[in-house]
Amino acid sequence: MSNKNFYVTTPIYYPSGNLHIGHAYTTVLADVIARYKKENGYNVFFLTGSDEHGQKIETKAKEANLDPKKYVDGMIVGFKELWKKLDINFDRFIRTTDEDHVEGVKKIFTKLLKQDDIYLGEYVGKYCTSCEEFLTKEQMDENFRHSVCKNIAKDLSEETYMLRVSKYHKFLVKLFETNFLIPENRKSEMLNNFINNNLEDLSVTRVTFDWGIKINESDKHIIYVWLDALSNYITALGWGSDNDKLLKQFWSKDSEVLQIVGKEITRFHSIYWPVMLEGLGLKMPDKLLSHGWILVKNEKMSKSLGNVVDPNYIINTYGSDAVRFYISYNLPTENDGSYSDELMIESFNTNLANNIGNLISRVSNMIIKYSDGLLNKVDISKTELFKESQVTIKNFGILMDEYKYSKAIETVLGLGNLANKLIEDSKPWDLDKQGKKKELNLLLSQLQYAIVTINFLLKPILVKSYETMMIQMGVDGSQLSLSSLVKNEISFSKIKEKLIIFKRLAI
Ligand code: ME8
Ligand code: MG
Repeated sequence: MSNKNFYVTTPIYYPSGNLHIGHAYTTVLADVIARYKKENGYNVFFLTGSDEHGQKIETKAKEANLDPKKYVDGMIVGFKELWKKLDINFDRFIRTTDEDHVEGVKKIFTKLLKQDDIYLGEYVGKYCTSCEEFLTKEQMDENFRHSVCKNIAKDLSEETYMLRVSKYHKFLVKLFETNFLIPENRKSEMLNNFINNNLEDLSVTRVTFDWGIKINESDKHIIYVWLDALSNYITALGWGSDNDKLLKQFWSKDSEVLQIVGKEITRFHSIYWPVMLEGLGLKMPDKLLSHGWILVKNEKMSKSLGNVVDPNYIINTYGSDAVRFYISYNLPTENDGSYSDELMIESFNTNLANNIGNLISRVSNMIIKYSDGLLNKVDISKTELFKESQVTIKNFGILMDEYKYSKAIETVLGLGNLANKLIEDSKPWDLDKQGKKKELNLLLSQLQYAIVTINFLLKPILVKSYETMMIQMGVDGSQLSLSSLVKNEISFSKIKEKLIIFKRLAI
């Protein structure tokens, strides 16, 4: 077993409605990086799941005339089906109603209470039920509408246990001097609006509804849905149970921990979650990647605004690889982005059909036509395209290790463009006519290597197409490793078929 460990998590989503492409965005990013890290020799644990407690879910279940557990059981079916369709290969799907999680959360509460990190107090202020969030005045307009979801926050005044966040001010200031929160531009909002703006303790129990985890210490207090939810990242690994082998492996100094979230929940993940971890004596996540939103007409796509695109529809229409590609390439994490069928078709045609698909079919056709499907082995190490391929492998790795998916893919597309251009410039059909067999063989060999490189680098994204893309180059993709690619130790067999990969979509 390798000694490199990698732990990646997504938020656990509320089953208060069906998932939309915003959720697919985060989950695909996690899946892509998990596959990439595995390819690079890491032991990987990939966690996703569902956040099933809280007032909003309780209300939804009532509306559906169902007991809350029945209601969420039904919703989760759709979650899992969607992830299967999108080739999301998680290691655990945690539900906050799972027994081990419930036990873990109670223990976390008790430990923090015993240490006096939690105390009994009173909360008076504004609450957004749709986001399950206590709001500061900066987060609302003059009519108390929450800036994120536009719902009107309500007054709340109740006895509650409080988490002593204020005590951790110095700790948080220090944490924010590191670069654990990326991209950089998310830091200042947290510092200006929360950490350095009268950092307040957080209410962590509620007494006015039922659907949640009861604390051991009192019958009437239910644990606040966010304390419950954030704990999932460690209860999933066995925190507080007899079996915490996974915790020791994946939440340790020998492990790289990446947590991916949408920017609206950065506050919970960069302030309250680190405070909890510090209280529990655990390390901080190495990176918190807070990505932008998918917008619809300049508003966040969201269940509460009702402007969502169903990922099932786009997967059925364009295929899961196309969706995974669009998300990873066309939605750079530092900015907000958008989705439309026009944008999807344009990206598919430009990048997958015209660039990569076309390259594969041109080169495989020429290998079949000029060399009966199998090229003579030659030394390509001095050729331009071989060198460019090696540079691309390196740059792709550097960018992926910084979680810059879009830029990483751009380097691969650049290699594709270069290969297409080389075909135009060196006109293999003329070399054939002129009987320049050696030159032709050398040209096709470097093109073949560049394509194998492209296919291999895009493997974490183009999960379904990968093997076919490789077969079209005469390679058994399941047998190829990164190191044999780098060393150019690839075994080629005869290319027979002419398959069309990424057929152009009609506009
Ligand atoms: O917040 N653009 O769950 P949630 C990009 N249960 N990403 C989006 C998006 C959009 N328009 N809409 C949703 C919760 N997302 C809590 C999390 S974690 C301990 C608890 C993605 O169902 C993005 O990852 O509201 C966002 O943070 C998440 O879905 C919110 O999902
Ligand atoms: Mg939300």
